[in-house]
Amino acid sequence: MKIIDGKLIAAQIKEEIAQEVREMLAAGQKRPHLAAILVGHDGGSETYVSSKVKTCEEVGFKSTLLHFESDITEEALLQQIDLLNKDADVDGFIVQLPLPKHISDQKVIEAIDYRKDVDGFHPINVGKVSIGLPAFVSATPAGILELFKRYEIPTSGKHCVILGRSNIVGKPMAALMMQKTLPGDSTVTVCHSSTPNIKEICLQADIIVAALGSPEFLKADMVKKGAVVIDVGTSRVASDKTKSGFRLVGDVKFDEVAPLCSYITPVPGGVGPMTIISLMRNTLLAGKKSLLNKDSK
Ligand code: GUN
Repeated sequence: MKIIDGKLIAAQIKEEIAQEVREMLAAGQKRPHLAAILVGHDGGSETYVSSKVKTCEEVGFKSTLLHFESDITEEALLQQIDLLNKDADVDGFIVQLPLPKHISDQKVIEAIDYRKDVDGFHPINVGKVSIGLPAFVSATPAGILELFKRYEIPTSGKHCVILGRSNIVGKPMAALMMQKTLPGDSTVTVCHSSTPNIKEICLQADIIVAALGSPEFLKADMVKKGAVVIDVGTSRVASDKTKSGFRLVGDVKFDEVAPLCSYITPVPGGVGPMTIISLMRNTLLAGKKSLLNKDSK
């Protein structure tokens, strides 16, 4: 059994991106610039966005954080998006989700110019990914594919079972794993809250991607010997053993599942660090206008 060290791989990629930025600057090119819109004061979202801003600094990107109170109107937020769409200095931007209830996530996502949509959430990017065209790929699935690549984990012809059908992880993960390109070329099954026989399906899996948001859902009796298990879950549960008063728990009951696996990601330190680094990779692509050159338009 091998524990996949997402923290280590993310640190390596961070250095590769920083090197590319140094080369861009030496060649007289502009520093890539990521902007982030944050609405309100959700603790989780504030933490995620500040890590994104910090990582921008570490790789040499310019970053701009636009923080609005939760009573900002949908119209005002859409105007801010329009400004970022038109700002030639901003290569890519994200709007941290979830948004307050009076603002439509989907309206906001569709207002972002898909050429600056480094989250890969815009329907044009989602559509391109689903038919195998170059596009901004949602950060968590992109990070998982990078782990498969760097650990040389075979995926071709394997049965990949994805637990969860979110637009951010489950659906794009399924689209990527079924492409003919590598990593991918897998047979894909997506399970969700209405799947009656999840245990039987998981037992047939060579690769399991657990992205349900259900703490310690995947147990040892659901995993075939030698399977690859990727844990996307990050639930906070109360703990009297940590200073913060909580600890992060994945969707996998790690202690009992790990001995069965050929590879497994821990929580924390597995998929999490790869997600932010994939956003940085997308921002680098945006800064280099790499995808636009491949655009069919
Ligand atoms: N909320 C949870 N994950 C994400 C993400 O990857 N991007 C954005 N914009 N919001 C999120």
